[in-house]
Amino acid sequence: MAGVKQTLSVDLAGIRLASPVVAASGCAGTGRELAGLTDLRRLGGLVTRSLTFEPSRGWPGPRVAETASGIVTGVGLQNPGVRAFVAEDLPRLARAGIPVMASVGGGSLQGYIRAASILRGEPGIVGLEVYLSGADEENRGLPFYSRIDRMAEVVGAVSRLSTVPVFAKLPALLPDLVPAARGCIRAGAHGLTLIDSVPGMAVDVRRLRPRLGAIIGGLSGPAIRPIALAAVFRVAQDLPQVPVMGVGGIATAEDAVEFLLAGAWAVQVGTALIVNPSAPTEIAQGIAGYLKAKGLASPGDLRERMRLTGEQPARGTSAS
Ligand SMILES: Cc1cc2nc3c(=O)[nH]c(=O)nc-3n(C[C@H](O)[C@H](O)[C@H](O)COP(=O)(O)O)c2cc1C
Repeated sequence: MAGVKQTLSVDLAGIRLASPVVAASGCAGTGRELAGLTDLRRLGGLVTRSLTFEPSRGWPGPRVAETASGIVTGVGLQNPGVRAFVAEDLPRLARAGIPVMASVGGGSLQGYIRAASILRGEPGIVGLEVYLSGADEENRGLPFYSRIDRMAEVVGAVSRLSTVPVFAKLPALLPDLVPAARGCIRAGAHGLTLIDSVPGMAVDVRRLRPRLGAIIGGLSGPAIRPIALAAVFRVAQDLPQVPVMGVGGIATAEDAVEFLLAGAWAVQVGTALIVNPSAPTEIAQGIAGYLKAKGLASPGDLRERMRLTGEQPARGTSAS
């Protein structure tokens, strides 16, 4: 339709991105790996792999196993440590002109605080994402997300230290996902990333052993898209003013539009990026085409456009 001035740009609590399509944490490495494969400047942004204060070797291999419609991976928090990232990788990403969100991980509250302190004020970083799926040394090794008060403590500490907007990254399969999302926002997060990969496993029946060194890893790719979409929808319905980045199985523009219609403000692409490094560019172009066909000006115009007819189930409940 003529007359509508179109933009792909989005504003996520002050993080301005030229495209709503961002590389998901852990799937673009530190940018070094992608540089020769695609034009990094076409990415709306890049979330680093989760960075801890100390370097971490992660899980032993094998680290990836293919499944019917996705992969299970068990990487652990392998990373060079936040200081090495700032010294070596961040300058290269900054030179490439990509908005960088740093994912902050840790095994204890102090670990998060130390990592966030190193990132504080770094000019190349536009936002932080708090990784909450790791083992909490101070809570019997259970994931941080297993207690809302613990998540709030970590997210609150990182947010107070940060000079840039902070997104809390949540898994989908929390019975109290919406209260958890609220807890993170109340603690100081400016936005939410939904979802992390879903616990999954694969077994090599020929060799009678698990196919991942970690035994249980994370399932990602098309298999988890409906799960991610439901999580985004539930949270966005409850917190419509909070920026949500939707992630999980997005491989095409249509997949991305599903998330934008369900309430996401932007999307992240993980597994599809590993398969096709140009996926984010193609997805962004496809979103532009969709907006044009619908006569809409920006990705934000898709929020709350989904037609919800009939009687809605009570919030937070399953209709099945
Ligand atoms: C190889 C691999 C490594 C990942 N590493 C991280 C990580 O360090 N931190 C994090 O928050 N998520 C990590 N993730 C999860 C992704 O960021 C994303 O939430 C998940 O894969 C779902 O999106 P997808 O289906 O598009 O891959 C990783 C995923 C994969 C496949």
